[in-house]
Amino acid sequence: MNLSRRSFLKRSSCAAVAGLSIPAYLRAATPGASANDRISVALIGCRSMGWANLTDFLPHSDVQCVALCDIDRSVLDSRAKELSGIQSGKFSLYADYRHVLDRRDVDAVIIGTPDHWHCLQFVDACRAGKHVYVEKPAANSVAECDAMTAAAAKYGRVVQVGQQQRSARLWKDMVDYLHSGVLGKIGRVHVWANFNYAAIPHPVPDSAVPEGVDFQTWLGPAPDRTFNSNRFHGSWRMFWDYGGGLMTDWGVHLLDMVLWGMDIKSMPVGIQACAGNFLFPEGAHETFDTQSVQYLFDDFIFSWENNAGIESGPYGRCYGIAFTGTNGTLVANRDNWVVYPERDTIPAKTAEADHREHRDHVTNFLDCVKNGDRNTACPIETGSLSAKYAHLGNIAARMNGVTLRYDDAGKTFNLPDADRFLKPAYRKPWIFPEV
Ligand SMILES: NC(=O)c1ccc[n+]([C@@H]2O[C@H](COP(=O)([O-])OP(=O)(O)OC[C@H]3O[C@@H](n4cnc5c(N)ncnc54)[C@H](O)[C@@H]3O)[C@@H](O)[C@H]2O)c1
Repeated sequence: MNLSRRSFLKRSSCAAVAGLSIPAYLRAATPGASANDRISVALIGCRSMGWANLTDFLPHSDVQCVALCDIDRSVLDSRAKELSGIQSGKFSLYADYRHVLDRRDVDAVIIGTPDHWHCLQFVDACRAGKHVYVEKPAANSVAECDAMTAAAAKYGRVVQVGQQQRSARLWKDMVDYLHSGVLGKIGRVHVWANFNYAAIPHPVPDSAVPEGVDFQTWLGPAPDRTFNSNRFHGSWRMFWDYGGGLMTDWGVHLLDMVLWGMDIKSMPVGIQACAGNFLFPEGAHETFDTQSVQYLFDDFIFSWENNAGIESGPYGRCYGIAFTGTNGTLVANRDNWVVYPERDTIPAKTAEADHREHRDHVTNFLDCVKNGDRNTACPIETGSLSAKYAHLGNIAARMNGVTLRYDDAGKTFNLPDADRFLKPAYRKPWIFPEV
């Protein structure tokens, strides 16, 4: 039976779920911890990454999850059951994130919703006095990134963007290595990301909204349309109204390592791109399955490429970064990095990942919340910069080969026609958050 939105909301905002059995590692109390030392967190968007993040919060004995929020009742119910098996404390279920933010006892929220929702939920959370762990990309547009950066500063909130590579020993060591200058003068940085999931080869017809889903709220500020399963859970990433394809999905992680490694803190001199749906021309995805971007700088070449629907790539890696210097080339991905020396200038080198970055990223956020330290491993300024680079890559691709220059202070391109991609028109009743 279909549950009406009203009865779902009524039911969901009242349901308090008591814990079932708790794994021993989660039961251990921090010596000296009191109720006042607790950090009460709420998760908004529970299906995949948001839940994965929450499971990295829960092993901290001073963390209590007090609320789960999702517009899909089946997701909410199954995550509630799982959470009951992990923590003993009570928590409540919500379909409307604004009711979560109304709760004075919530210290921090995890935002694990699709990209088109990040900005509004983030700004509302900051306004409500909550600290925020927001998944990447920071937002689905350049203007939203700016609004979020302004909100975090205005309301003085502690923010961690889910670019977990910022908390990885592997990538920190790589950046130290690059900054040491051993590689010599770096003339080229190439980034690539080739993943099967980013091509949706077959369109499917629109269909009825699944039972228990509040699809209007899922759409939120995005344009109204009928339900299509290709554009929903997980695969929304390949449709412009909700995401930016591989360019933003992987781009923010990998471009961020280039910005960090090359010490870039502002916009490139220009952006050029070419792209198309060449591999799967009949595919359902809107974002490009084949895309190349050049970020123009005066003294080195910075390029991105993605191929959706395949999973092979340079150096035997489906994704990665290659920094080419006068003394050698450093090739990195999340598993390791390798230095291939040029002639005998420098020693060969390999570094291996410990894969602790997801847990360490959460620990860093919690430490910063406790200390009131806004300088997290990935504050909104850092997350926004790499998201803006990714969006500029997509905008240049959508502008079909012209050279764009973006004025970050004036918030305009050299070509006014490109400005329409900077800020989405929010669908009523949602209003773009001016901060
Ligand atoms: N850091 C990483 O490595 C990483 C990995 C995967 C995903 N992500 C990011 O995590 C975010 C979520 O991605 P996903 O793969 O989990 O997506 P998903 O589609 O699997 O899950 C999103 C969930 O949000 C819910 N939702 C949508 N609108 C909502 C609203 N207004 N209020 C409450 N719930 C709402 C959906 O019902 C769904 O349960 C994205 O921004 C994505 O880019 C990050």
